Amino acid sequence: MRLTNKTAVVTGAAGGIGQAIVKKLLAEGAQVLAADLSASALTVFNDYPKDKLITFSVDVTDYQQVEAMVQHGVTHFGQLDIMINNAGIGAPKPLLDHDPIADFEPVTRVNQQGVYYGILAAGRQFRRQESKGVILNTSSVYAQLASEMTFTYNVSKAAVDMMTKCAALELAPLGIRVCAVAPGRVDTPMLRQYEALGLWDHIRKEQMRQTFTQPSEIADIVAFLVSDEANCINGCTVSASDGFEHFKYPLLG
Ligand code: NAI
Repeated sequence: MRLTNKTAVVTGAAGGIGQAIVKKLLAEGAQVLAADLSASALTVFNDYPKDKLITFSVDVTDYQQVEAMVQHGVTHFGQLDIMINNAGIGAPKPLLDHDPIADFEPVTRVNQQGVYYGILAAGRQFRRQESKGVILNTSSVYAQLASEMTFTYNVSKAAVDMMTKCAALELAPLGIRVCAVAPGRVDTPMLRQYEALGLWDHIRKEQMRQTFTQPSEIADIVAFLVSDEANCINGCTVSASDGFEHFKYPLLG
């Protein structure tokens, strides 16, 4: 087990990728604070013993709540070692159909400001503890690619990539590592929005092997990235997309 006696906070923990990350970290020996906006969705973790897993309702767009989340984990488990800023939202919509507020602010606040708050609260806690911690942000292949109907989402994920670099640089003197993972198409409730649009089969073919990534596969990469085995990976976003960004949609399907 690679994360024995490590304490991790995971946001967006009740979602598809978040749940898989929580389970993987537990399997690697970590203690986990699983946090999400949805208190009812967090009940999926009710059966775990409290010395291994606790839950916390948080809105990552509110810094006071993010700070309180970190402190709750520290009070319960004694320290913070790993911060995983995974909460994210997005809803496909053509740019010119946007409501300038409703289709920009909520996504930006969760995906960009939420990650910023997580970096800040965790970095401050690591400094208080005088310990080397790891911060892992969930980005997306869309951070570096243009795509239709996801304008605000892509912009917010590009910000995640830049925040990952800048935070890694500023926190390096404290021995803190910051990196990100960029999934392509992962079969979760977020992605299922494309099913309703009749695009499910189309987006499957955007991955080289034309199969959706499973949340557990992203969790495997995350567990590696936050472990000491990934000690030399810092300030970058690691692609976990089955080649999504390395080819154009195949002519021959
Ligand atoms: P999901 O929709 O299954 O889970 C997202 C979770 O975030 C939900 O449980 C939701 O309640 C929570 N959340 C939303 N707003 C929040 C807030 N203000 N405060 C705290 N929690 C909040 O989505 P999924 O697919 O598991 O996404 C996880 C991360 O992976 C996101 O950052 C997403 O952008 C990213 N991602 C997902 C991909 C996919 O294909 N599913 C591809 C690339 C990146």
